[in-house]
Amino acid sequence: MADTKFRAMVVSETGKNEFKREIAERSISDLPEGEVLVKVQFSSLNYKDALSASGNRGVTRNYPHTPGVDAAGLVEESSSLNFSRGDKVIVHGHDLGMDTDGGFGQYIRVPADWVVTLPDGLTAKEAMMYGTAGFTAAQSVLKLTENKINPGSGKILVTGATGGVGSMAVAILAKAGFEVTASTGKTDQAEFLKSIGASEVISREDSSDQSGKLLLRGLWAGVVDTVGGDILATAIKSTNQRGVVTTCGNVASHDLNINVYPFILRGVTLVGIDSASCPMQRREKIWDMMATYWKLGNLEELSRTVTLEGLSDEIDKILKGGQVGRVVVDLWK
Ligand SMILES: NC(=O)c1ccc[n+]([C@@H]2O[C@H](COP(=O)([O-])OP(=O)(O)OC[C@H]3O[C@@H](n4cnc5c(N)ncnc54)[C@H](OP(=O)(O)O)[C@@H]3O)[C@@H](O)[C@H]2O)c1
Repeated sequence: MADTKFRAMVVSETGKNEFKREIAERSISDLPEGEVLVKVQFSSLNYKDALSASGNRGVTRNYPHTPGVDAAGLVEESSSLNFSRGDKVIVHGHDLGMDTDGGFGQYIRVPADWVVTLPDGLTAKEAMMYGTAGFTAAQSVLKLTENKINPGSGKILVTGATGGVGSMAVAILAKAGFEVTASTGKTDQAEFLKSIGASEVISREDSSDQSGKLLLRGLWAGVVDTVGGDILATAIKSTNQRGVVTTCGNVASHDLNINVYPFILRGVTLVGIDSASCPMQRREKIWDMMATYWKLGNLEELSRTVTLEGLSDEIDKILKGGQVGRVVVDLWK
């Protein structure tokens, strides 16, 4: 395999803070060291990939680089006894697509302990319809349930609801029997949000309180926040007694201007979600949940498939907050 050529998106620095993306030919011998070589069938687009593909040094330090935090495919070669040629696998998170060449190429080579066996009940394409976004949404829902929030507890708010993590969270929560309120900047997508399981849609403006009040009327038993900033602060202040708020994203802001009252008067719990470094046993449990109890019947409705050539336009769209649902990348079309 050493000299086999393959196609990949390559992001290069062309000048100070200027980057270009192209679909280029690469060699397997150029991939980093690792025990498992995977032929990537499908990848998917996440916000972090768009940052990496546009030169964000907080995500990727060294260019030229192939982004893609997600990959699903077949083991091509393995020096680990845990995997054999032809095994169906998923690789996501860790350093994949950050400073390690990622899933926007037809091959990746990674350490064996990054590799998850594709669960029965999911195809490689379905796994990438979920991708890191779906995994993060599922992990957020799991945290709510582990903290004793169940469908009888009350309404769950999802922010950034049309985005990858947000739309997956709406759909998984609905599948698990929760009543979901979706907060979105795209009110023209209300019908889409209802079709995937939201019972109510509110605007981004109504989700961001500017009154300066320390506590707001309790509305939510739980919150899956994907955006941060004032919207997250408002959600925490609007969470009921012993409610639970998960935080995973920062598309609105990385700042969180909050006071202690929601925590000391209402016993609200704020839970951080970090998918990249999620331990293997938990990673497998979450993939199993997505393949069984939380398997969505409407994955096609939640995603679109593009080729490597079509990916750059989607990257521009997600950077502007314009993405709706999930984008899957078919590496061999
Ligand atoms: N912690 C982790 O492990 C982890 C894993 C995956 C993703 N993330 C993070 O989660 C966030 C969402 O990722 P994603 O892949 O779902 O991205 P995405 O598809 O772009 O979704 C983000 C959504 O947030 C809303 N939004 C965009 N700009 C906004 C703004 N300025 N203010 C308020 N809302 C805004 C939009 O939805 P509406 O128009 O519907 O409001 C947008 O579709 C990102 O910050 C990402 O880095 C974290």
